[in-house]
Amino acid sequence: MKTRVAIIGSGPSGLLLGHLLRAAGIDCVIVERRTRDYVLSRIRAGVLETCATDLMTRLSIDARMNAEGLVEEGFNLATDTGIIRIDIARLTGRHVMVYGQTELTRDLMDAAPERGLEIIFEAGDVALHDVDSDHPGVTYAKNGVTHRIDADFIAGCDGFYGPSREAIPAAVSREFKHEYPFGWLGILADVPPCHDELIYANTDRGFALASMRSTTRSRYYIQVPLTERLEDWPEDRLWDELSRRFDPISQHGVKRGPALEMSIAPLRSYVFETMRHGRLFLAGDSAHIVPPTGAKGLNLAASDVTYLSDALIAHYMRGDDSALDGYQQRALARIWKAERFSWYLTKLMHRFPGEGAFEHRMQIAELEYVAQSEAMQTAIAENYVGLPL
Ligand code: FAD
Ligand code: DHB
Repeated sequence: MKTRVAIIGSGPSGLLLGHLLRAAGIDCVIVERRTRDYVLSRIRAGVLETCATDLMTRLSIDARMNAEGLVEEGFNLATDTGIIRIDIARLTGRHVMVYGQTELTRDLMDAAPERGLEIIFEAGDVALHDVDSDHPGVTYAKNGVTHRIDADFIAGCDGFYGPSREAIPAAVSREFKHEYPFGWLGILADVPPCHDELIYANTDRGFALASMRSTTRSRYYIQVPLTERLEDWPEDRLWDELSRRFDPISQHGVKRGPALEMSIAPLRSYVFETMRHGRLFLAGDSAHIVPPTGAKGLNLAASDVTYLSDALIAHYMRGDDSALDGYQQRALARIWKAERFSWYLTKLMHRFPGEGAFEHRMQIAELEYVAQSEAMQTAIAENYVGLPL
């Protein structure tokens, strides 16, 4: 098979990129290792910046998002005793939207056939070839047969564990990483949220986040040691823990219900430079990871593919390669700022094993300063809604 752009991965970055290219009349194909149902069963991000919602609008795939998404004009930073509302609408004139990654992914997958975007699911042994030549290709196995896609470019949108990043030699790349000594245990349940807006809480029992997917579906997370396993957390134990942390500070108190999903995710910060090697371009989690505290992962995937699709469109429509050449510099400038904000909020809101009373007093002092200073609140708000593209 021949195409212009071979895209590896049908997460948010691969799907958004595929749609943006198809909308410009550029041929592309997505190869995805998993089944459609598997991809849609992964519960991940929940908060979209306008850089992500604007793409859905540009693609005219925003009807369900606009009908079902919740516009959030503020969010909260809390301790055991107090709550600070960050009024993002007043401080920035902007907002974020609560709309699950699974819903966005479903909308993009549903719209693919009518837009001529081919997605090859259950593609095994996906491998990249000749990325630094003029004739790169991707091979994959399906139903016992090996296929090759010849392309002008390859977009590595295959997440943190995909093969694309590994196709870039160590000699021309550099990794930056930071691991955190805890993970997030998440639960999704069909119960009304405990508060009308999100709460990020630094409590004596550790970090907790009260989030939502709708007015009837809640998403909660708590900080857990990396040694913890799901078997250690029967649902009642988690609900007890959430009640202890949120009942004293939330508007409605924690409502319990059967878990639709529970999972534990480790927290890490990671940036891979370079995002381009020859005719291979990386986008989204294949090139960078943020700890989830700032809700930036999916939104960075959206900004990467905005830059990359613009650059590919300039190449095909105008023969102009300057944006392709400038892609990684443009993308990394935004990535590093989102890395900084996610790291900052993670440090501010979690209890770090091994840190003592002094570090905790520093967190409390900073939160008191945030509570009193509109300048601090504005700095947090403008990062939370997303820095300019
Ligand atoms: P992905 O969504 O990872 O998509 C990559 C795709 O590539 C997948 O479909 C995968 O199956 C496919 N793939 C992988 N290997 C291959 C291969 N060999 N061949 C073909 N296809 C392949 N962000 C937030 O903002 N808030 C959150 O709460 C949050 N929670 C998260 C929880 C977890 C467990 C993880 C892993 C991430 C979380 N994130 C969160 C981050 C956010 O979900 C990601 O930033 C976002 O999914 C990035 O999109 P992506 O398309 O770049 O990568
Ligand atoms: C959600 C996840 C986040 O990491 C975050 O910062 C806010 C919300 C969520 O899954 O709802």
